[in-house]
Amino acid sequence: MLRNAEGYVSGQELCEQLGVSRTAVWKMIGQLKEEGYQIEGVKNRGYRITFIPDVMTEAEIGSRLDTKVMGRCCICYEETDSTNTQAKRLAEEKAPHGTLVCAERQTGGKGRRGRIWSSPSGEAVYMSLLLRPLIHPAHTSMLTVVMGLAAVKACNEILKNQLGDDAPRVQIKWPNDLVLGGRKLAGILTELSTEVDYINYVVVGIGINVNSPSFPEEISSTAVSLAMAAGKTFSRGELAACCMKHFETCYDKFLEKESLEDLKEDYENYLVNIGRQVRVLDPGKEYTGTALGIDQEGELLVERENGEITTVYAGEVSVRGIYGYV
Ligand code: BTN
Repeated sequence: MLRNAEGYVSGQELCEQLGVSRTAVWKMIGQLKEEGYQIEGVKNRGYRITFIPDVMTEAEIGSRLDTKVMGRCCICYEETDSTNTQAKRLAEEKAPHGTLVCAERQTGGKGRRGRIWSSPSGEAVYMSLLLRPLIHPAHTSMLTVVMGLAAVKACNEILKNQLGDDAPRVQIKWPNDLVLGGRKLAGILTELSTEVDYINYVVVGIGINVNSPSFPEEISSTAVSLAMAAGKTFSRGELAACCMKHFETCYDKFLEKESLEDLKEDYENYLVNIGRQVRVLDPGKEYTGTALGIDQEGELLVERENGEITTVYAGEVSVRGIYGYV
């Protein structure tokens, strides 16, 4: 309420809208101040917010959420080993479908294929969404595609809100990465606990480089942040909430048919590989071809030089552009 108000909001109004006592409001204001918000309290006028910190807290994300399920249960940590691992722990403790786990920093951030995901404090979004979908386990990889699509929409929305039509455009490098100007902006790691024909839960984790001013030397030529590309910083809480909004919409479309049929076209509009030469790093038999798009299961369709169209499964191979990272 304070963030959306033009000027002061009276204590009375806060009490009435929130259905709580004056003391509760006063305590909450104190808590927000401890989290870094600057809030002015003036007698007979009320409260006015003068500074909003860029924090990944339940208050900051929750107050921006516009969803029915996704992120409604939101748990934020100053530090955790990995939000994916923590989400799995919470899943074992019966956390509900749609629980969002966030952290300011991760001490054991995980990338795909056992790689480390460098996770310094305060610069990026590190979040994991816990899902309990009633779908066939073989369809889980489509959830990575759904998150990729949701995240690319969220990043572009945030960029456009601040920079207008001149905003740089974020794209998807099939299947798990978001790219900006040919460099990696975000990565997705999906993990699951399953029986032969029943999913216990799925955790879709995403790391988005938001305000990082630079990167360690090993990745400095391939990584990028929104701030580096745009020359200004962004609210990570707003981006996380925006991601949840798009995820919920895309997820519902996916669930309806348990396929990507209704998302395919949208996804392909963001696909950086489309129409380009790609090298498919299939263990034992690498080949090149032209990426045509995805099928309704989220697999990449590649046309080889002899005209044959092959289906590339995300788990099995990695796809490289002929020129550099993309
Ligand atoms: C990749 O591109 O290799 C995937 C990176 C996934 C990183 C995110 S950060 C939040 C979540 N927690 C983790 O430990 N990993 C994912």
